[in-house]
Amino acid sequence: MNVGERHFRTIWLAGDGRSVEIIDQRWLPHEFRVVTLKTVDEIATAIRDMWVRGAPLIGVTAAYGVAMHMLDDASDAALDNVWSHLHETRPTAINLRWALDEMARTLKPLPIEERAAAAYARAAEIADEDVELNRAIGRHGLTLIRQIAASKKPNEPVNILTHCNAGWLATVDYGTATAPIYLAAEEGIPVHVYVDETRPRNQGAQLTAWEMAGHGVPHTLVVDNAGGHLMQHGMVDMVIVGTDRTTAQGDVCNKIGTYLKALAARDNAIPFYVALPSPTIDWTVGDGVKEIPIEERSGDEVSLVWGKTAAGDVVQVRISPDATPAANPAFDVTPARLVTGLITERGVAEASAEGLKALFPERA
Ligand code: MRU
Repeated sequence: MNVGERHFRTIWLAGDGRSVEIIDQRWLPHEFRVVTLKTVDEIATAIRDMWVRGAPLIGVTAAYGVAMHMLDDASDAALDNVWSHLHETRPTAINLRWALDEMARTLKPLPIEERAAAAYARAAEIADEDVELNRAIGRHGLTLIRQIAASKKPNEPVNILTHCNAGWLATVDYGTATAPIYLAAEEGIPVHVYVDETRPRNQGAQLTAWEMAGHGVPHTLVVDNAGGHLMQHGMVDMVIVGTDRTTAQGDVCNKIGTYLKALAARDNAIPFYVALPSPTIDWTVGDGVKEIPIEERSGDEVSLVWGKTAAGDVVQVRISPDATPAANPAFDVTPARLVTGLITERGVAEASAEGLKALFPERA
């Protein structure tokens, strides 16, 4: 995505050839800060504390973390250790495990002296592949938006609701849920996006709204609880969200609150689509509600909110009594029966074991 005159990805190799530069997303939309991560411990902190976030970007960042570690120690034991160290940073997004497995699979057969260079090469490939997957998702999702646009009066916008940030910032570029929206806007299809604020971390208010503004896509920020009301009043034509892990039977784990949007969409006969690259599919899991580990984050994220004062200072304020405990499950699972379709790089699959197997027969 362009920021000012410059095109940015969300992660890239630094000039020293061993560190990576990332956009520290905790400060957006107030400040655009690029920071350098030099060690695997810094990579782990950046993932755990959400300097980078979003399932595909977490995976790519971890892949570079493995590469950094290989420069210091490329033994089998070091590879196993860095796998475990990075894997425990965030438990829900399967792209993290996928990327770590991909690195181990690539590196283990190689002689130790070749591993560091091969690790950097594979991490860069995973980043490039993510961009290509998202472009393909965009093309398939665009077909769905075109169909809805065709049923509208000229210049009447297609209203799309999205939750959290499954955009450029959650991936390496383009995003998953946002890729079809950006392509539709580029094609001149009038689109308008309802952006859920996405409490408690406000990825919608802080990140998706910033992305939409940057792309010039008309959008409106709404509180998380507004979706059902908007749908009842014919103000939403389709929902597109991303996912942190989709199971082999099509259950979709995504940011907390996604399930409620899917229920409201079903009650109002509004199509509910999930955009995902295939590394987000966990082929080892069937029932998402029972089997996917849900990350439980600090209650402070619920009790304390970040914002910018009129004087321009970015500050944190408490919104609940000091002694009130807060629970913070970060994700929920939307059962496949509530999902209209899964927009993948190979096309739109029915959210079912059969639908996924038809698109990915090699996994059958
Ligand atoms: O906690 P986050 O910000 O990492 O959660 C991100 C999401 O839930 C996204 O929707 C998901 O990772 C898909 S990103 C393409």
